[in-house]
Amino acid sequence: MARVSKQVLIRAAARARKLAVAPYSKFKVGAALLTRTGEIITGANVESASYGLTCCAERVALFKAWTGKKRRKSDFTAVAVVAQMRGGAMPCGACRQLLSEYAPDAAVWVADSRALGAIKEYHVSSLMPGAFVKLPKTRGGKKSARA
Ligand code: THU
Repeated sequence: MARVSKQVLIRAAARARKLAVAPYSKFKVGAALLTRTGEIITGANVESASYGLTCCAERVALFKAWTGKKRRKSDFTAVAVVAQMRGGAMPCGACRQLLSEYAPDAAVWVADSRALGAIKEYHVSSLMPGAFVKLPKTRGGKKSARA
């Protein structure tokens, strides 16, 4: 497993944050995912005039990662999140759900953009205990959303 320090990943998230598109909230967030091979995939929040369509930094990074090349969910070892907020901004519920599905083994490193050295550490599994991560199998063995 490649060694990328917390500091390096947090700095990648801080750089990504600068590219956030947040004209409504002005609240810029950067995220950086780390894979077992040492690859770093970044993202930042993108807001919409139809506010509910906004996509958080963590999800942008996840979607980039999963659509950039073939992945396994066990590939991801950490995700860093940087925002200008005392103690850092925690991933929202929607991002916790997506992280549980697509990066369940990841540590979550969070920092304030003004204090990148003060990193708080969590884990996806403890931020979203008991997450709904797969559809039940039907009798035919195929997965279905229908009852
Ligand atoms: N936001 C993120 O990008 N990540 C989070 O974990 C929390 C919130 C964004 C969404 C929106 O663009 C802005 O922060 C204010 O909620």
